[in-house]
Amino acid sequence: MTTVENPTVTHVALGGTRGGPDVPTLRRDRWWLQPLVTTTVLTAFVVYSTWAIFVNKDYYAGAALHRDLISPFYSPCITASCVPGTRGTAVVATWWHITPALLVMGGPLGFRLTCYYYRRAYYRGFWQSPPNCGVADGHRRYTGESRFPLILQNVHRYFFLIGLLFNTILTIDAVMAFRMPGGGGIGVSIGTLVLCVNAVLLWLYSLSCHAARHLCGGHVRSFSRHPVRYRLWKFLTPLNARHMQFAWASLVFVGLTDLYVRLVASGTITDLKLF
Ligand code: FES
Repeated sequence: MTTVENPTVTHVALGGTRGGPDVPTLRRDRWWLQPLVTTTVLTAFVVYSTWAIFVNKDYYAGAALHRDLISPFYSPCITASCVPGTRGTAVVATWWHITPALLVMGGPLGFRLTCYYYRRAYYRGFWQSPPNCGVADGHRRYTGESRFPLILQNVHRYFFLIGLLFNTILTIDAVMAFRMPGGGGIGVSIGTLVLCVNAVLLWLYSLSCHAARHLCGGHVRSFSRHPVRYRLWKFLTPLNARHMQFAWASLVFVGLTDLYVRLVASGTITDLKLF
């Protein structure tokens, strides 16, 4: 329970003194738990995904295993070094000679890094700015996102569009995961479900984005003159209210999807066919 006592109002201005209390904190609850969980989960994800991107193997379970499962970190696989079966595209980056994941991760990474929710989370968790409500700021001056490099956060609306492109590609991957090549025809395995859930969570994360809601409902003087945009806005608004949950669920699950494909591709586990 929050126990803020005697709150004071501090006017915040760019370049001025930061807001917040003069004492370390006004709170008596476990306010540190939220930033601690944030930094722990984000650090774990960054460490795991960095390893997964650079290890450059076991990212595809293909015909030899009667499956068509690709890790979301390596899709679309467009370099000449991609393992056979992964490159379902005419675009081939012949000039790229290191891990193919590094070539495609910029889009999803930029989308997450500039996300309004994650910004709040990592500003609080890593930058202590401030660590939580009613807690003293870790920095003396307030600069907002008004100058380089943080002003680049404004490109989020464009990363949103790039994110939609990746969602479409990963949805195609999920549909392809119903294939059981090598005589198996069409079927459903655990891996199929994993890729499908991953795609659904990524769509929920993208559609609940603030930029998506603004795209539908922003700059409209009268909804009655824009019934289609109004319906879209009405559809997206409840999703937007759960953006934080979708952000975490999709982040954790995309890592678990890579792990699952990796375990199947390396032969550590067998992907169980359900029907
Ligand atoms: S605000 Fe989080 S993805 Fe756009």
